[in-house]
Amino acid sequence: MEIKFSSQNILEQKLDLVFYPVLQDAKQIKSLLLSLGLKNSLDKKLAQENFLGKKGEHFSFEVDDVSIVLLGTGKEKKLLTDDVREFSGLCAQFLKKNNIKSIGVDIQACLRLFSDLEVLAQSFAEGFYLGGYSFDKYKTTKDLVNQADVLVFSITNDKKKAFEKFWQKGLLFAQGTILARDLVNEPAAYMTPTLLAQTAQNIASQHKEIKVKILDKEQVEKLGMHAYLGVDRGSDEPLKFIHLTYLPKAKTKEKIALVGKGITFDSGGLNIKVGDGMTDMKIDMGGAATVLGVFQVLASLNIKAEVHGIIAACENMPSGKALRPGDVVTNMQGKTIEIANTDAEGRVTLADALAYAQKQKVGTIVDLATLTGACIVALGSEYAALYANKDGLTKDLLASADTNSEKIWHMPLAPEYKELNKSQVADIRNLASSRGGGSITAALFLQEFILEDVAWAHLDIAGPAYAEKALNHYTPVGGVGFAVRTLLTWLQSK
Ligand code: BES
Ligand code: ZN
Ligand code: ZN
Repeated sequence: MEIKFSSQNILEQKLDLVFYPVLQDAKQIKSLLLSLGLKNSLDKKLAQENFLGKKGEHFSFEVDDVSIVLLGTGKEKKLLTDDVREFSGLCAQFLKKNNIKSIGVDIQACLRLFSDLEVLAQSFAEGFYLGGYSFDKYKTTKDLVNQADVLVFSITNDKKKAFEKFWQKGLLFAQGTILARDLVNEPAAYMTPTLLAQTAQNIASQHKEIKVKILDKEQVEKLGMHAYLGVDRGSDEPLKFIHLTYLPKAKTKEKIALVGKGITFDSGGLNIKVGDGMTDMKIDMGGAATVLGVFQVLASLNIKAEVHGIIAACENMPSGKALRPGDVVTNMQGKTIEIANTDAEGRVTLADALAYAQKQKVGTIVDLATLTGACIVALGSEYAALYANKDGLTKDLLASADTNSEKIWHMPLAPEYKELNKSQVADIRNLASSRGGGSITAALFLQEFILEDVAWAHLDIAGPAYAEKALNHYTPVGGVGFAVRTLLTWLQSK
C-alpha cells in the first residue's frame, strides 16, 4: 500500500473512502458535518443508527461518491495516545471487511483532537499495521485482507516531513511487534530452537551492525551450561543457544543485554502438565520472540547502545533421558540447582542465559520470560510483572511501558521470601517451598545468578505474551509481541 501526502482538501481527491475521528459529543459531530457541507440532512440517519461517537462505533454516508466514515473515539475531550492506536486499528479492521481501493485521513482534523503531530504519526502507524495483523498461515480459507493500494493523508506542507518521519518510526515499532507475534503464533512443531536460530541468522544477515553466534550442544557443554543442558535432555529437537550482538555506528560505553526465555514447547517434562495446562505452551518462547522482534528493527532505529540478544532455546519434554525431580544440575557459574519440579524449567535455562549475558560484561540486563502461572494469578492475563534491582531501571522501564500503553506492574524482590528457595542438597531449589508468591520466588531465584554491580530487570510476561481474545482494536487474539515497543522506546532513550 502506497502512502501519499497532500495539502489539498481530502474530499476533493477522488478517494473511495475518508475516515474522520469524532468524539462522543453531539455538538462536535454536528459541526464536523456542517464543515463537510452536510447541514442537518444526516440528523435522521444519526438518530436511526443511534450513533453517538462512542469508542469503536462507526457511522458511514456518501458525499459526492466518496464514502465518509466517522469513527467514534469516546467521551474524553482530547484523545490519548492509545486512542489514536485504537482509531487507526479500527480503520485497518474496517478496511479488511470492506473492499476499498483508496482511502484518506484528514490529519488536520485529527490534530484538532490530538495536537502532538509526532506522537500522532507514530501511534497512527502502530495502530494501523498492528490492527491489520492476522495469523492465517494455516487456514485454507484466508482471513480478509486490506485491499487498498493507496492511503492519502491530507496535511499542510510544513508538517509533512515530521509526520512522515514518525510514521516510519511507528511502522518499525509495528514490524518488530509483528515478527514477535508471528513467532509466538507458529506451532511448536515448526517453531523449534532451530527455527528460532534461523530467524536470528536471518535478522543478522539483513543488518551489517548485527552479528550472530549460534552455539550447538557441544559448544554449550564446553561452556558448562549444565542447567540449560539438563532442561534440554528430554527433547529430540537439537538445542540452539542464540547470541545476537548489535554494535552501533558510534562507539558507546553502554552495554545492554536482552535475555529471552526460549522454551519452544513446555510439556512440563516428567512433571507433565495436566488438563489443558499444556494447550498453549507453544507460547513459552514469548520472551525470545520479543528479543528477536526488537533486533529485527533496532538497527533501523539507530539505537545508540551496544545491545546483546541472548536466548537459550530448547524444548521441555519427558523421556527416558529427561531430567528427574530430585536431580541436581550446575550452571556455568558453578552454582548448583536442585530440580524439585521439572515444570519450573524456564528459570533453570535462564540461570545459564543470565550467566552468559554477564560474561559479555554488560552493565544492564533485561530478561523477559513467560515464567510463572502464578504471575497470571497475581496480575491477571494483561499485566506483566516487573522486578528490578535498581530503582532507576524500574522507573525508566515503567515510563517506556506507559508511553506505549503496555501494562507492566512493579513487584517486590522481597528479601524475606528468599529462604523459600533454599535447598537441602544444592545451592538453590527451582521450586519454592510455599505456593504463595510464585512469581516473586521465581524472580528471586533468577536474582541469585546476578552479580551485584549489574543493573537487572526481569519481566514475567506469562499473561500478556498471548491474548486469548482481542484486547483492543490493534491487539487481536494470539501472540501479542508484548514489550517490543516498550523496549524499543527504552533503548532509544539510551
Ligand atoms: N511456562 C510455564 C509458565 C506459564 C504458565 C506461562 C501459563 C504461560 C502461561 C512455566 O514453565 C511453568 O510451568 N511454571 C509452573 C511453575 C511451577 C511448577 C512452580 C507454573 O506456573 O505452574
Ligand atoms: Zn514449565
Ligand atoms: Zn515454561
